[in-house]
Order: sequence, then C-alpha cells, then structure tokens
Amino acid sequence: MKYFVRTYGCQMNVADSNEMSRHLEARGVVATDDPDAASIVLVNTCTVRDHAEQRGMSEIGRLRRWKAKAPDRKIVVTGCAAERTKESIERRFPHIDLVVGAKSIESFPAMVDGLLSKRPTDESFAYVTGMQNAERGNVANFVTIMRGCNYSCTYCIVPYVRGRESYRPMDEILDEVRERVDEGVRDVTLLGQTVNSYRRDGHRGKDTDFAGLLEAVGGVAGVERIRFISPHPSYMTDSVIESMATVPAVCEGLHLPVQSGSDRMLRAMLRNYTREHYLDLVDKLRAAMPGIVLSTDIIVGFPGETEDDFSRTLSLVEEARFDWGFIFKYSPRQGTPAADFESHPEELIEERHRICLDLVEKVGRQQRQRFVGTTQEVLVGEAGIGRTRGNYKLRVNGNEGKIGVGEIIDVRVTNADRVTLQGELAGLGARI
Ligand code: 5AD
Ligand code: SF4
Repeated sequence: MKYFVRTYGCQMNVADSNEMSRHLEARGVVATDDPDAASIVLVNTCTVRDHAEQRGMSEIGRLRRWKAKAPDRKIVVTGCAAERTKESIERRFPHIDLVVGAKSIESFPAMVDGLLSKRPTDESFAYVTGMQNAERGNVANFVTIMRGCNYSCTYCIVPYVRGRESYRPMDEILDEVRERVDEGVRDVTLLGQTVNSYRRDGHRGKDTDFAGLLEAVGGVAGVERIRFISPHPSYMTDSVIESMATVPAVCEGLHLPVQSGSDRMLRAMLRNYTREHYLDLVDKLRAAMPGIVLSTDIIVGFPGETEDDFSRTLSLVEEARFDWGFIFKYSPRQGTPAADFESHPEELIEERHRICLDLVEKVGRQQRQRFVGTTQEVLVGEAGIGRTRGNYKLRVNGNEGKIGVGEIIDVRVTNADRVTLQGELAGLGARI
C-alpha cells in the first residue's frame, strides 16, 4: 500500500507531515510521489491566511475524482484548516475519510490504525524502521520541540487552531536528534511556533530554557548545524544570543519575524515589543555573529496602517538590512480580534505589498554581495548544490560529479546576483 502527502503552510506543517509519514511507514505503507499510485492521500492544510486555506480546499475538491476511481482509496485531511473548519469540511467534502485537526496530531497513529483496519484486506502490516531520511538522501531535517502559542497577536489564528504552548521533554528531543543523525541528517532545525520560549525539565531534573537546549543539542555527536524557527523577538534573550554565538554548531542565520516597523501597529497587533527593541536585537546579533544572515516576516495593510506606519516598516527594512523576507498581505481570519477592525481596500494592500517586496528584494541583493570573494562552508544536499551556514542555497560550478551528498566543503563565492549563490570549490573541508 502507498501514500501520497500534500503539505500546505509553514515548516511546522512540513514537520507534522514527516511525523505522520513515519507513522504510516511504521505500518508498512510506503511513500509515492504519484497520487495515482497511492491508496491513501494525506492533505495537510494551513489556515494562516485565506489564500493558503483555499489552496488546500481546492486540492480536497479535486480528490473527489481521484477517490471515485477506486472505492477503497482513502483521503485524510489534517492540519490547521482541518482544526478550524472540521465540521464544515466534513459536510462540504463527504468523500473525506478522516479529519485530524492540528491539536489532535498526537492521536493520529490511533486514528490511522482505525482507518487502515477498516480496509477489507488481508495485507499484513510489517513494521519497518524509519530510515526514510537516509534513503531519500536528506541531510537536513526538522525536530519539533514545542507546539502551540501563548501569544495573542490580534491577526493570528494559530493560537486557536494549535492551542497553548506545550514543550517536549529535553531527553525526548535529544533522542530524536540522535535518531536523525543516525539516518544521515547533519543539519537540524528545531521547530516551534515560538520556538525560543522553550522551557522544560532538562538533564537530571534541572530546569532548562532555550539557550540550554541549544547547548545540549550542540553536544550531540554528528550534529554539524543547528537552526531554529520561528523565534519571537520577546524571547531573544542575551543568553540565547550567547548560546548562538558560542555553540559551534548553531548557525549564523536567524529568521526573526518583525511584522511591522511602526510601534503603533506593533501595539495594535499585540506583538509585545517595540521597533527600538527589535533593532537593538539586530545590533546585538550582528555584534555577536558578524556576517549573520537575517530574515523576517512582514504583514502589510494591517487595519489602521497609515502611510506613515507603512513608511516606518520600509525604513526598518533599510535599517535592519535583511537578507530576505516574507511579505504578507494582511488577511482577516474569522474569530481573531483584528477581523473586527476595519480593513483597507484590496488595491492599497496590493500596492504596499509590491512596494515592500521590491525594497526587500533590493536590500537583499545588496546584502548578498558581502559574500562575494568569501569562502563559505557548504553542506551538500544534492548534486552540486548545498547550503551555507547562513542557509543560502549555493551552486558549486564545475565539480558536480566529485562532491557527494552529505559532504561539507569550502566554497569560494563568485556570484551573488541571484538568491542562489554561485561558487567554486576551495578545497574539501576537514569535517566530512
Ligand atoms: N494575515 C497575513 N499574514 C499573517 N501571518 C500570520 N497571520 C496572518 C494574517 N492574518 C503571517 C505572519 C507570520 C507568518 C507565519 O504569517 O507574518 O509570521
Ligand atoms: Fe503553520 Fe500557522 Fe499555517 Fe498552521 S496556520 S500551517 S501553524 S502557518
């Protein structure tokens, strides 16, 4: 039996899809890239913006015909939109077999067991070990360390669909990191909705926070690189910055969502920090890790955003000198406080989106030039292509055949005009 997974939304959803895949594979169901070869299709949905939700709904709609081709095909819908609209999607799409909302991911194995045993089949489910990453040649993978979000940003649906924060025990996290390393993973991304608010009993019952967790993961043999998403500016404490700077495996790259450069908007969004605090963090990060790659999320067209507020977001982009950023058009989400605020006309949001995107791209192009002529440590993920420690994709010209997946090489950057850097082999690194 084969399964096919379609994932929408953020890395949290990608990690959840990986986890659900592992459960299916443990039951002898194998992955396929071709939905027509599959007898189970899993659609892992997102609801953070209306557009993301609609894409998932269209996919589910299209699966009606897929399912009609063979009656015992199964459709499983999971994730955040599934959590938000459980009843209505079951009514709207009666061809769905199972809905597992984001808050119920822990019960996925039991629910999938129920679904599979309903199948009129004599197939026996051989238990397999989770070697999927090594087989697929992935050198980078996610490890979920916490779920949920205790903030109440006024635009955000996530706290409603993913619930309050809960943290995995540190020993369990370290075990999973070791497991991934055994499978060939070298680059570990710690995941959580507000990942750096992590706190939990650590080793020998001692309390630990995110800084302590970075140190512990950094101590696992075979972990070459550690990243984390998404941090909240309020929890970027001095000790987290210090751990980033001192634990050798922690990479010099940070995606730190700012959302707006205007204090008035940050207050309306209930973000809990000011523009000044955010820019101070940028200074501290640059002082601790010169050359750090910084990126962000920005929402344009939030209700009440004036020209002046918007210009403050643009000036923050110039001041912070981000390498790249995701720019989102504000999308009202039913049930959130901001959904009751008066919205801007669509055209104004479109225009601000275009202006902000153009600026972020311009600043990014300028920022990338600082790498030209430098030697970067590159972890090769596929033939001739790898990632720098700052998480830039880098293409190594002229040596594709000689470099193996999983190798760490030194590359001299020759061109940074595009988002994918170009470079030449500068010699094999010591840590292969
Ligand atoms: N509208 C637009 N963007 C949003 N985000 C979250 N909620 C909304 C919304 N209602 C963006 C934020 C967040 C990213 C994951 O999605 O920028 O950091
Ligand atoms: Fe991820 Fe948020 Fe979308 Fe859920 S709603 S998939 S947590 S971005």
